Amino acid sequence: MDGADPDRWSAVAADWLDLWGGLAAPLWQVIAEAAGVGPGTKVVDVGCGSGDLLAYVDALGASTAGMDPAPGMVDFARAQIPRADVRLGSAERLPWPDDAFDLATSVNAVQFAEDAHDALLELARVTKPGGLVAVANWAQPELNDLDTIEEAVAHAADLNPIPAGDLRHPGGLETLFTGCDLDIVVAGVVDTPWSVPDDDTLVRAVLLGEDPSTVKAKAATVIRAARPFRTPSGGYRLSNSFRYAIGTYSPPRVLPTMLPPARGRAEGDV
Ligand SMILES: C[S@@+](CC[C@H](N)C(=O)[O-])C[C@H]1O[C@@H](n2cnc3c(N)ncnc32)[C@H](O)[C@@H]1O
Repeated sequence: MDGADPDRWSAVAADWLDLWGGLAAPLWQVIAEAAGVGPGTKVVDVGCGSGDLLAYVDALGASTAGMDPAPGMVDFARAQIPRADVRLGSAERLPWPDDAFDLATSVNAVQFAEDAHDALLELARVTKPGGLVAVANWAQPELNDLDTIEEAVAHAADLNPIPAGDLRHPGGLETLFTGCDLDIVVAGVVDTPWSVPDDDTLVRAVLLGEDPSTVKAKAATVIRAARPFRTPSGGYRLSNSFRYAIGTYSPPRVLPTMLPPARGRAEGDV
């Protein structure tokens, strides 16, 4: 499915919340601990989807704001956390003033922005000096059982699997952060295991956003590819991982020779 299309995300918002919403919970904990999230911490989550990270930090006492371009996702986020300031829009242009938050997060979303660099600069802009910016997405395919299934589905249709973007590989998020003058505070990989109780739920989740005839045609391939991950109870448990980076804004140092001439003194005067 086209991850940059808000209509597609709106159409699957209920299923996202139901099937995938809690996927990154182990990662939320890592981010919240790194940032010391507690009562009064101001947090914004960009590409907030159905609002699950926001619900988590709200329960820790944070004051929350969120942004997503898919109206269906925004509806679910607002319903989950009625007191959160959840708005419709894109990461590349946030509606909040400079220095508004202690922590700006974006999980499994900046890769859909037209320009991830611009999106990260916006996250940094709305974060207070000394605050933290946290970005995460799926780790490289070798660390994700879900990729094994998706590769099988692509090959069955004589297609090449969608290549994993740079941000999924070691060093990708770090390069993005450095390019935005963000110093990495901590970065790493978090296990995000995912379980479903039966074949139907597996197929519905893996083929999220596909039309019913495609789901029917691909179901057997999904179930066959997921066989190694089957549990004794008839469900499935996939080992997956997210890669994350948490950084703080450090503007480039201005050396004295780079400063403009002092006022009231002509260039060349000594
Ligand atoms: C895979 S979902 C992740 C949702 C949520 N962050 C989570 O972890 O459950 C991707 C989300 O990114 C949003 N998205 C797509 N393009 C975006 C953009 N340019 N800026 C911000 N969010 C975007 C989608 O609407 C969708 O809600």
